[in-house]
Amino acid sequence: MRRFATVVLTTAAVCAQDPPAAAKIDFEKQIAPILVARCVACHGEKEQKGDLRLDAKAHLFVEGKNDEWLVQPGKPDDSDLLRRLGLAPDDEDIMPAKGEPLSKEQQQLFRQWISEGAEWPATADAWITQELAAQVLPKITFELPVIDDAAKAAIDKAVTALRERGAVVQQVAADTEAIDVNLSLLRDKVGDADVALLTPLADRLVWLNVSRTAVTDAAAKNLASLTQLRRLHAANTQLTDATFTALSGLQHLEYVNAYGTGLADGGLAKLVALPKLERLYAWQTKVTAEGAKLAREQSAKLQLDLGDYVEQRMVQAQKEIEERAARSKPVNDTCPVADKPIDPAHTIDHEGQRIAFCCAKCKAAFQKDPAKFLAKLPAKK
Ligand code: HEC
Repeated sequence: MRRFATVVLTTAAVCAQDPPAAAKIDFEKQIAPILVARCVACHGEKEQKGDLRLDAKAHLFVEGKNDEWLVQPGKPDDSDLLRRLGLAPDDEDIMPAKGEPLSKEQQQLFRQWISEGAEWPATADAWITQELAAQVLPKITFELPVIDDAAKAAIDKAVTALRERGAVVQQVAADTEAIDVNLSLLRDKVGDADVALLTPLADRLVWLNVSRTAVTDAAAKNLASLTQLRRLHAANTQLTDATFTALSGLQHLEYVNAYGTGLADGGLAKLVALPKLERLYAWQTKVTAEGAKLAREQSAKLQLDLGDYVEQRMVQAQKEIEERAARSKPVNDTCPVADKPIDPAHTIDHEGQRIAFCCAKCKAAFQKDPAKFLAKLPAKK
């Protein structure tokens, strides 16, 4: 239930900020959130209904199968995906197959995106991966300290104050007193003073989301007092190592999202030393490759996500291009038949090597009896 509510709010927040139709669609901000919220449950890693995945570019735009793409860049009216979004609600082919149809505005975003060429940047793949990972719920049992009635009353008071500020405060699940506070929807209306409101909750607050808010390192001490914290979302804030270093007392912390913050190697080392930390997002921070290497050596169970798979993927793609180019280059400069300079127009592939000749006649002579000329070729690598 809770997850659903959060997702809907997120989507609404995104839509409220849509630029006027003239502005170019930003796939990561406007389309990917809809895919994550409304499509990936059936078209993702776990289920691929209709053999379709929508959680990474490569699945929708299968290389070499352009004719079959369900989204035809530049051609919204030839894009089956868009057609399905706009079907009548009782049509059995309508997508999403469950729940409300996408609003007219959302359908329009898809249409504009496709018209503009259906760009899907590599960074959006990483964003989707991260978003999906963040939705996975951890175990719902928490061992929390015993507290007296006075402390309970103080918590209730603090919860009321936070709700009045517009924070989303809720129990993590029905059978626990553990509390989840989400301040991220208030964006920059939330600052260090709001974090101070959290301290009475310390014995019950297990999940906290301050992503995209205006919190600064001035809140470090208050954040560090939240000793029961399991998850901390602090993405895209101004927090720096001053804060992350101060969190070294949070013995229960399992998950930290520090994407787009000032986290650096010093703070990383402190976080990695936390006994329970399993997952840390440090994409677009000051963490260096060396710092990340040390962290990975320090903790075997930590999943440290630097978003570097985006880079790795690009490096891999570049390597493949180079390898392909290398393979298409002849291994010899001199014709093995006539000892003259080669003409790349006359080549053959022989036992995995590309061999060039000076003319068609030499090529034919080679093909008739390759063994006769092989000794003249450069030694195989
Ligand atoms: C509740 C599950 C569910 C959800 C959510 C869902 N789909 Fe589907 N989708 C299906 C099923 C089942 C099929 C296969 C049957 C069919 O083709 O109608 C399918 C098929 C498709 C196809 C056709 C695939 C092909 O190979 O022709 C497209 C396109 C599609 N979905 C797009 C979407 C989009 C876009 C969303 C989100 C806006 C979405 N779906 C959400 C269940 C779902």
